[in-house]
Amino acid sequence: CETYHHVFHVKEASYTRLCRTKKILTVNGQFPGPTLYAYGGDKLVVKVYNIAQENVTIHWHGVKQPRNPWSDGSEYITQCAIQPGSSFIYTITFTDEEGTLWWHAHNDYTRATVHGAIVVYPRHGTSYPFPKPSGEVVIVLGEWWNKDVNTVLEKALETGGEPNASDSFTINGQPGDLYPCSKPGTFRMLVEHGKTYLLRVVNAAMDDGLFFSIADHLLTLVGSDGSYTKALTTDYILISPGETMDLLLKANQSPRNLYYMAARAFSYQPVNNIDNTTTTAIVQYKSHYTQRSTNPLLPTLPFYNDTEAASKFSFSIRSPAGMHWPISCPQRFDQRMIIAVAVNELECQLSGSCEGPNGTRLSASLNNISFVNPPIDILEAYYKGINGVFGASFPSRPLQYYNFTAEYQPLELLKPRLGTMVRVLEYGATVEIVFQGTSLVRAESHPMHLHGFSFYVVGWGFGNFNEKKDPLGYNLEDPPLKNTIGVPRNGWVAVRFTANNPGVWLLHCHLERHLIWGMNTVFLVKDGEGPGTKLLPPPPHMPPC
Ligand code: C2O
Ligand code: CU
Repeated sequence: CETYHHVFHVKEASYTRLCRTKKILTVNGQFPGPTLYAYGGDKLVVKVYNIAQENVTIHWHGVKQPRNPWSDGSEYITQCAIQPGSSFIYTITFTDEEGTLWWHAHNDYTRATVHGAIVVYPRHGTSYPFPKPSGEVVIVLGEWWNKDVNTVLEKALETGGEPNASDSFTINGQPGDLYPCSKPGTFRMLVEHGKTYLLRVVNAAMDDGLFFSIADHLLTLVGSDGSYTKALTTDYILISPGETMDLLLKANQSPRNLYYMAARAFSYQPVNNIDNTTTTAIVQYKSHYTQRSTNPLLPTLPFYNDTEAASKFSFSIRSPAGMHWPISCPQRFDQRMIIAVAVNELECQLSGSCEGPNGTRLSASLNNISFVNPPIDILEAYYKGINGVFGASFPSRPLQYYNFTAEYQPLELLKPRLGTMVRVLEYGATVEIVFQGTSLVRAESHPMHLHGFSFYVVGWGFGNFNEKKDPLGYNLEDPPLKNTIGVPRNGWVAVRFTANNPGVWLLHCHLERHLIWGMNTVFLVKDGEGPGTKLLPPPPHMPPC
């Protein structure tokens, strides 16, 4: 296992998209940012210099960072921001992660443009559990705002309304042919007929799940969230913000056509409230034949609100359990948590009325507690024993049982409590979490993401979780190992993991607007008894608050 060193300069750069030019925050001037490469078990050391005008932190999404939350990069949770003019060194330690992961800024709305892929090749001396592809390409799905993203965030927080939707979706930073002024930049993937390619797809979009497909070609899923999966062949995928999907593409169609790969929003909102345009890139066969047409073929994607299509794909994913791939899914658990996931309303603080429903301010919660950022990061407060920064009473059950998915909800539930609450877990405890979607304010799908762990997705369903009946249908044989899972709209999903990573770890919805509204909580995993089970000491220079 090797250690590789990288330098990230966080700085502004000028980019032209959708007919206009603006400054965006980047790493090393690149959008999307640089791809990091490693082999299983390697270590990366990334020195981040902030030479921009705003704060930043960088999170290594899906890297478990054993015993070392100090390098996890979540602002207010594991560190304070790297301020303009200062730097911080992150140590990224890979253990069993293989496949595609990604990194992104983890403060305010900075991750809109500050993100990139992480490619983890099989550990030296091992190989993919599928035939080695002839080539591979990273596909980062994202969003582009004509406005400055800080302005979008500030306006949303000030007015209490929805943040403005982006002006386009992007593939590798490019909106693609179907958006204005975008044709020359459209990303092209060149393939040779008869060969197989590995697509490493990351959804770095802020606020939308995306359906993704390639015209006339089937895709075979072989990995997701830094773990291999059983091969799953499909004509489209659904990918939520935070998720990654490794797909094999067989270039077996007529080399005389051009083909679009395309992505479009999966959303609860009606078409006129979202960007329903399709972002595209071109798959082109290297050949000496003349092309039949210069118009690429467009794939058919599921409709924007097709929850069935979304769930059908997401819950078909399986881990490659078997002789060579032992699975460590806990067969029993020490504690089951039921976490109600909701969008809420708070009183307006403006003199007039806010832009949320009924003139209120939008907010979001887990078990009816809307997370409030503490003045110093929770990890520091825990490590140094500083009192009064957080409370340890995040409830293991919703504060009130009700019909979570009914059309009308009790008014008192619309308003969450505000607080900085963590849940303390004993080292080594086996935990089941059932995320229960609700129809408070609005029913939508929430991609829930846990830092510091991967979890097995053992069950799901529409409607309310039934604690007696539903566990009987769990899949404990070959559940997929994920770090982000979409809770189906008006449904629930159950995950299991072992709390064997001491430290402070964020759990949140990966829709950025929900995160800023408080749809998060923190697991504080205590030290174990034996060697190698204790939180590491902090590096010498943590950024001050
Ligand atoms: Cu990819 Cu807390 O995030
Ligand atoms: Cu959400």
